[in-house]
Amino acid sequence: MTNNASATPNSARAAGPTNSRNKVRKAVLPAAGLGTRFLPATKAQPKEMLTVVDKPQIQYVAEECVASGIEHIIIVTGKGKNSIEDHFDSAPSLERFLEERGKKDQAEMVRKISNMVQVSYTRQKEPLGLGHAVLAARDLVGDEPFAVLLGDVLIPGPNPATKQLIKVYESTGVGAIAVEEIPKDKTNLYGIVDGEPAPQPPFGERLLRIRDLVEKPKPENAPSNLGITGRYVLPPAIFDCLARTKAGAGNEIQLTDALRILAKEQGLWAYIYEGISYDAGDKLGFLKATVEIALQNPEFGAAFRSYLKTLKL
Ligand code: G1P
Repeated sequence: MTNNASATPNSARAAGPTNSRNKVRKAVLPAAGLGTRFLPATKAQPKEMLTVVDKPQIQYVAEECVASGIEHIIIVTGKGKNSIEDHFDSAPSLERFLEERGKKDQAEMVRKISNMVQVSYTRQKEPLGLGHAVLAARDLVGDEPFAVLLGDVLIPGPNPATKQLIKVYESTGVGAIAVEEIPKDKTNLYGIVDGEPAPQPPFGERLLRIRDLVEKPKPENAPSNLGITGRYVLPPAIFDCLARTKAGAGNEIQLTDALRILAKEQGLWAYIYEGISYDAGDKLGFLKATVEIALQNPEFGAAFRSYLKTLKL
């Protein structure tokens, strides 16, 4: 056995490259959280509907899904989240209104949102944690691999993080989660991975085999400075792991704790994805996302850049 092979989770070799069973077609978007970090904006509206430049955050995430080849999005909602369903629904009277006034482009833009992908909804009845929210999607996902995208993490750019993870999953048959280096004093805000390099073509040094994970450790207890970014591609076995997971950090059922079980039983990759993420659930992160995405806007990005240069900072 070569070093490389010994660093490869067992089922990676068993599952092999893409076949119809490991094609990733579905994505789960947990959107049941109360958004307390963003009060008062989230008092009466879902955090997922807060607008970054000209779109609600959840639309960026849905667009990342579509750009990654996802065909069916499952949104896990809760109380007060109806505007998310309205946003992805068709809006015939609005479309008619726009068309009658000759605003064809706007009518088309509105229509595209409801046609871009199949969307299903399920509810998390109690706020028992991210793991519990993902488990609520079990029946809708069924017995196939799926992606998880956290709605308050935005990763704009031409190479979607979810697509990168899908490539890893479809070529190895083993789950993969996106990680990035985070400041050592911020480990208590993230799931942190303990991984060993497991380079293999075409993924190179970006691939690590996960030995263990820990949710929101204090800096002195963190096994590394690689934080989980909020993008996951997982086999359906994660549901059994979630069902066996007891409440952990914050007295919630943590996805990270179920991933520990999955990593031990089936293997799990950490993938240092290419791109930049913004934690738009945090006020400063939201502002950074807004400025940087506005600067890329083809319509007014250049004018916005000129404006920023005039500010006396
Ligand atoms: C969640 C996950 C955590 C991950 C983070 C990324 O935490 O539990 O492992 O690192 O998202 O944003 P939350 O930010 O929901 O508390």
